[in-house]
Amino acid sequence: MRDVVDDLIWDEAPDHAEAVAILDAPALVPDALTLTPDVRVFCDDWRDAAQVDPDLLVEHPSDLAGVDLALARLPKSLAALDEQAASVQGAPDVTFVGGARVKHMNLTMNEVLGKHFAAVSASLGRSKSRVLRAWGPESMETDWPKVRFHDDLGFAVAAHGATFGGIKIDPGTRLLLTALDGKGRTPGLEADDALDWGCGNGTISMWLARRGVRVQARDVSWSAIAGTGIAAEVNKVSVDATWGAGLDGYADASVDAIVTNPPFHQGVAKDTSDTLEMFDEAARVLRPGGQLWCVFNSHLPYRKELNARLGRTQVAAQDPHFTVTVTTLREV
Ligand SMILES: C[S@@+](CC[C@H](N)C(=O)[O-])C[C@H]1O[C@@H](n2cnc3c(N)ncnc32)[C@H](O)[C@@H]1O
Repeated sequence: MRDVVDDLIWDEAPDHAEAVAILDAPALVPDALTLTPDVRVFCDDWRDAAQVDPDLLVEHPSDLAGVDLALARLPKSLAALDEQAASVQGAPDVTFVGGARVKHMNLTMNEVLGKHFAAVSASLGRSKSRVLRAWGPESMETDWPKVRFHDDLGFAVAAHGATFGGIKIDPGTRLLLTALDGKGRTPGLEADDALDWGCGNGTISMWLARRGVRVQARDVSWSAIAGTGIAAEVNKVSVDATWGAGLDGYADASVDAIVTNPPFHQGVAKDTSDTLEMFDEAARVLRPGGQLWCVFNSHLPYRKELNARLGRTQVAAQDPHFTVTVTTLREV
């Protein structure tokens, strides 16, 4: 649904274009089609992509190259903006119009756009929102996707601009891996197959696959699925990674374990509802007696929720910031 940010982007956009790229702004597709039939849409979040006519979706951000107008919801991550700005280059001249709520914007965004465009200017604010306009191609160069080998873990992870955490290892995930290895307060993970929910840069999937576990991975972010796929290739392991929301599409009683560092944000807003929904779905997807391994910021009430929704939940590891739990699915 169109909101004040979409309205401002559209009002600040030029009124003619030969080819338009839409980035993460599905509500602007009908407007863009009034300018030209050549509208190419890329949405990182599967739920945004699901709102768009599949014929208009491109498979990879680099398929946007060559447009003369790009309309974008500015991502909160500068790395994601950097990749967005590079991906729409290619035509002799391209205008980029990106909008967001002012509270989610910062001056560094202008610098990032300045790497890829000759000029950048900001609109006046309206309804607590603002648009950055950039024009004149400056550089198509992009170093996305990135890969980093982590000596201490013995494998590489990979990221596109919008992948959670980039190519770093999340500190909560690091604690989770220690517990999975049996170095916490409970025995470690024993599973033939496991599902990495919210796989990000592939850290958990790579750890599992390296130990001979059959791994499926799921993320709502295209950049996460692409990053995990690249990591699997680089590490020469097999991971069945799918782009989608929640646990949709996984068969009932089909995995021994779900391993996750779940989100507590949706976009920029704090929101634990996706994770709580996933806990409920996990009861369907786990085999009887299966385990859900989870790491979270210790202030979140997930242990109580896991106990109530799935079954007996033990603390497998804890540090000043994070708690790792292992929940065994209650047999009914
Ligand atoms: C805290 S990050 C963890 C990433 C990675 N596993 C790690 O340990 O670094 C949570 C991940 O969940 C993904 N996510 C958020 N909502 C989701 C949903 N509804 N379904 C699937 N994945 C989701 C995010 O895109 C993000 O990659």
